[in-house]
Amino acid sequence: KEQGFEFEIVNEIDSTNSRIKKRLNSLNHKFVLAAEAQTKGRGRQNRSFVSHESKGIYCSVLWKMPFDAQQVRWFSLMSALALAQAILKVTGLRVDIKWPNDLYLRGKKIAGILIESELNPEQTEIALILGFGINVYKQDFEGELKDKVGTLEDFCDLSLDRNKLLIEILKEFDKTCKVPYTSESRLTYSRFNRLPQKKLRIQKNDYTFEAYLLGINEEGYMECIKENGEIMSLTVEEIHFV
Ligand code: BTN
Repeated sequence: KEQGFEFEIVNEIDSTNSRIKKRLNSLNHKFVLAAEAQTKGRGRQNRSFVSHESKGIYCSVLWKMPFDAQQVRWFSLMSALALAQAILKVTGLRVDIKWPNDLYLRGKKIAGILIESELNPEQTEIALILGFGINVYKQDFEGELKDKVGTLEDFCDLSLDRNKLLIEILKEFDKTCKVPYTSESRLTYSRFNRLPQKKLRIQKNDYTFEAYLLGINEEGYMECIKENGEIMSLTVEEIHFV
């Protein structure tokens, strides 16, 4: 039988991802934890995620599945697609996905995803903690974030309903994250994925070079082409753009 989401909403918490991680063994597949505010919201690469009270959606979903590295990589892309599609449906706004899973509106970051995972000792099952933060309502960001970050409301005249958006996101997760890795789903992801058209400096391990990004390959990696024509694939973990 198809399992539904189990839901918990709290006022303030350190981080919904951290909390789920601590309670991993006692929680079921598709457990959802949402908070009005986070005091230690976390982003990728050890960054923090500003989570102002009642101004956004700060939420984590626990997803347990048989372990398959390819499927996990794909999951990280599909979760961004699910957010993008839910946002489009509820607000009419078409976001850009910045590979692998940051969401932008006209150059401003409006949402991010942090996926953490734990494998069972037999390495047969993986628990994915899929945390997403969306800046929904207008708010002030401090320092360097001011120019980089935006909210859905900045770009939308409708009155936005966070609950409706969250429900739609969960529905999309359910659909999208179950989609097997196919060329069709890759194409759908690519439609939202806006690649910078300029040459980028890329650092892969200890090696720095310049290249253009080409798109997602069959394994879910980003491909780039170097000046000498060589094509290389990049993983999220080992590269960063400089
Ligand atoms: C990023 O932009 O680097 C990812 C941001 C992810 C933020 C969300 S908010 C809910 C969940 N709990 C956290 O501590 N982080 C994620």
